[in-house]
Amino acid sequence: MSNGEMMEPNVADILIEALPYIRQFSGMSIVVKYGGHAMVDEQLKNDFARDITLLKFVGLHPVVVHGGGPQINQVLEKMGIKTSFVRGMRFTDEETMDVVEMVLGGKVNKAIVAQINRHGGKAIGLSGKDGGLITAEKLTIMDDTSGDKPPEIIDPGLVGNVKRIDPDIIATLSDRGFIPVIAPVGVGANGETYNINADLVASKVAAAIGAGRLILLTDVDGVLDSEGNLISSINAADAGKMVASGVVTGGMIPKIEYALDAIRYGVEKVQIINGRRRHAVLLELFTDSGIGTEVVA
Ligand code: ARG
Repeated sequence: MSNGEMMEPNVADILIEALPYIRQFSGMSIVVKYGGHAMVDEQLKNDFARDITLLKFVGLHPVVVHGGGPQINQVLEKMGIKTSFVRGMRFTDEETMDVVEMVLGGKVNKAIVAQINRHGGKAIGLSGKDGGLITAEKLTIMDDTSGDKPPEIIDPGLVGNVKRIDPDIIATLSDRGFIPVIAPVGVGANGETYNINADLVASKVAAAIGAGRLILLTDVDGVLDSEGNLISSINAADAGKMVASGVVTGGMIPKIEYALDAIRYGVEKVQIINGRRRHAVLLELFTDSGIGTEVVA
């Protein structure tokens, strides 16, 4: 048998496997948080842009929310601005906020837009300021882990919490065939600018637009059990228990919390997948077993 003959049934099988999902997802809004290694590696960047374009052409309404920590670090360093983190959040003074807004809303956002457009998608870049998309308020954290001392208030500066998402502009763009690409920068009641965690924005956007799916790209395979094995599928209640019991640690904790939040607000499934794998989004959405962890209601 020639190589060609051996390949053919496999390719057909893959397409057949995808078909029910293409049908199921038709017309569905799906929010993809784009970040980590997939945003740094040239090959992965290109794959991602093409995958998002493909989603649009097969009838889904993808919405991209992106991060950009490493890119912000680079520019801060070039400008000689010191940066520090409190509880995983960048301490954001006014000067830092200016850089964050320039890098996320400018360079990074437009690069993603251009890459999607190169593949024939019609991407539009937005920050939370455009069309009043993201209203934010200042985030402060109470740290009561210090035992018998009174709780300490941690102030990360211009780091924001999402107060409200106005779904209008996203719906308008999606319906007209565009792919919204959102930088996680919000605006406060007095016009002040806030730096917001991209996972949080993605979760809130998914809830606000009534998305069927939220996909969080990470640099790990998904949620791991206590033996370190990938959990392919988990329901919200069990995921909550895993966080409470300390099986889930580090950066995965807030991700699961954002996932649970999205599900609480009606998103039917959240998929946490490894953006280091080529075409991770397509493999998760269009195969039966997926490649990461799905969190379902
Ligand atoms: N492709 C299907 C979907 O998106 C199934 C995905 C299963 N994923 C998993 N990690 N178990 O609904």
